[in-house]
Amino acid sequence: VILTQDELKKIAAYKAVEYVESGMVLGLGTGSTAKHAVNRIGELLRQGKLHNIVGIPTSKMTHEQAVSLGIPLSDLDTHPVVDLAIDGADEVDPFLNLVKGRGGSLLREKMVESSCRKFVVIVDESKLVKHLGGSGLAMPVEIVPFCWKFTAHRLQTLFADSGCVAKLRTSGENSEPFVTDNGNYIVELYFKKDIGDLKAASDEILRLAGVVEHGMFLDLATTVIVAGELGVTVKNK
Ligand code: A5P
Repeated sequence: VILTQDELKKIAAYKAVEYVESGMVLGLGTGSTAKHAVNRIGELLRQGKLHNIVGIPTSKMTHEQAVSLGIPLSDLDTHPVVDLAIDGADEVDPFLNLVKGRGGSLLREKMVESSCRKFVVIVDESKLVKHLGGSGLAMPVEIVPFCWKFTAHRLQTLFADSGCVAKLRTSGENSEPFVTDNGNYIVELYFKKDIGDLKAASDEILRLAGVVEHGMFLDLATTVIVAGELGVTVKNK
């Protein structure tokens, strides 16, 4: 049997939910993979197999999904320490560094996932890469709308040696700027060449006034669950 990509996502998500125990404060991820995990948590609560869970959603979309499933919710103000977060990723490198945020929720995801004891990432095997930013796909950076062209240009200049092109993310028929849950914009960076040291790149991006956060999640994942045609692989930090 050949499984669809969505079936693989679901397999990884269900495996991750095996890490959930009653009484936990749970970071609830965003995206088409995390959605399966949130559904499963809702199902186990309904069946009485889990109880006393508090969910911390990483986006408005996940917030709505969790409400519709009856999952009790809170936030980092009330629960600053999260026991376990489960979320998808756009890219995973061999050291378990990630690119996230192609769904646009990177800021809340990073706030929750850098505050948790255990961060389990769920992906299908198409997300595995040798180097972050090398897949030819976007590396998202959340920026304030004020003079966004100026900030986009500064980001592009920062990585001129890597042949970086910065584009504003747009949405809808009229190509309006995409607006995040926090009222910000997203600039997508495309690289022609390797960006080199990831920590240095991260620091340089974050030093630019106008930048809120970027989609590189370095040294945050504690476990990555990869679902592929040949089965499930669990990689631990
Ligand atoms: C949301 O902003 C993202 O970080 C997602 O977690 C990531 O894009 C993975 O999404 P999919 O599971 O839909 O591929």
